[in-house]
Amino acid sequence: MSNKQGFISGLEGVIAAQTRLSHVDGQRGELILAGYRVEDIAPHASFETMVFLLWHDRLPDAAELAQMHSQLVRWRVLPTAALDLLQAAAAARRPVMDALRMAAGVCDIDLPCGEEADRCGDYALLARLPTAVAAYWRLLQGMTPVAPDPALGHAANYLYMLTGAPPPPARVRGLETYLNTVIDHGLNASTFTARVIIATQSDMTSAVTGALGALKGPLHGGAPGPALEMVFAIGEAAHAEAYLRAKLAAGERLMGFGHRIYKVRDPRAEVLAAAAEALYTTDGDRALFELAKHVESTAVRLLEEYKPGRALQTNVEFYTALLLYGLGLPTALFTPTFALARTAGWIAHAREQLATGRLLRPAAEYIGASGRVWRERATPISSRS
Ligand code: ACO
Repeated sequence: MSNKQGFISGLEGVIAAQTRLSHVDGQRGELILAGYRVEDIAPHASFETMVFLLWHDRLPDAAELAQMHSQLVRWRVLPTAALDLLQAAAAARRPVMDALRMAAGVCDIDLPCGEEADRCGDYALLARLPTAVAAYWRLLQGMTPVAPDPALGHAANYLYMLTGAPPPPARVRGLETYLNTVIDHGLNASTFTARVIIATQSDMTSAVTGALGALKGPLHGGAPGPALEMVFAIGEAAHAEAYLRAKLAAGERLMGFGHRIYKVRDPRAEVLAAAAEALYTTDGDRALFELAKHVESTAVRLLEEYKPGRALQTNVEFYTALLLYGLGLPTALFTPTFALARTAGWIAHAREQLATGRLLRPAAEYIGASGRVWRERATPISSRS
């Protein structure tokens, strides 16, 4: 088959997969998760419900939900090899995303082999990565990891393993809304990575580990920490305009703004802003929320002034930062927590790719030299002694 399409920088607009998992409409600002609008489902469903929905393309009944819970509980405890590795990483003070990527690679070490291992691997990755993040965070602080609590749901247990205290229901709801909102998002860079890896008929651990590597970069999942730091650096509403102008004039990017697909406000920002507002109203620094809203509106106005026609709007990361901070998470855990949610989406995409897709193998346009002729040189290029 001849390829007449030509090179498309960043693969922008190229359709490389078919999916039933999520639909992103960047012009209308719409995100559909397995048929549901994100704003209708994310603030209400449990995370386990969302995982079931993505993995089975329908909502679970009570028994299926209980089974999902018990499968996750079964695999929450880390294998010793993962814990040893996290201890070594903590001694080397490695960033949390690096430790998570390393731990992901050994999460299947004690799994049974064969067909069962395949499915167990899905649950083990989803269940164990939160344990790895929480354990690693505590090790970095010189604290002992907290064992998972089988009575708690996925989101509550993560907060519990981080702090050692049962989390208040408002925080659990806030975290579930966050995890549900970012669980899947079309063919983003990390999801594409997972699909490329699994399309070779590799394994789920490799797909998720590769996706973690792709997510780590600041242009994909690494923006919420810097977005919040920007709000803190601004400090008060009166300083926002001068601060943001200085950044834009210096050619810097404002973290938490702009998106390859969305040319209007990211619908996830809407959901997370509402969740953050609910949280900050009952449990947090309301003034910080108001400051963030002011920074957001100033940034969007100035982006239009400095980058006219680029349609740079608030993306998911801006309110992610505010919500996760309100939940008591340190900035170093923002991207890892995003990864814990997206793991469910990566696994769903990988399964879909295995079931319906082909080996992903695009072409490159050659722009190198031509017609070079090899001749033996009088003086050899490599000297042998
Ligand atoms: N601040 C200032 N200028 C920006 C920003 C921004 N946040 N985003 C894009 N631009 C400008 C670029 O400088 C460029 O300007 P130019 O054409 O004058 O050179 C123009 O807008 C287009 O930028 P691209 O990099 O081509 O746009 P792309 O679609 O590739 O980038 C991206 C999307 C990477 C998200 C970009 O908007 C960005 O860097 N944003 C900041 C980082 C961020 O918030 N990342 C999280 C994204 S959400 C997620 O991954 C879950």
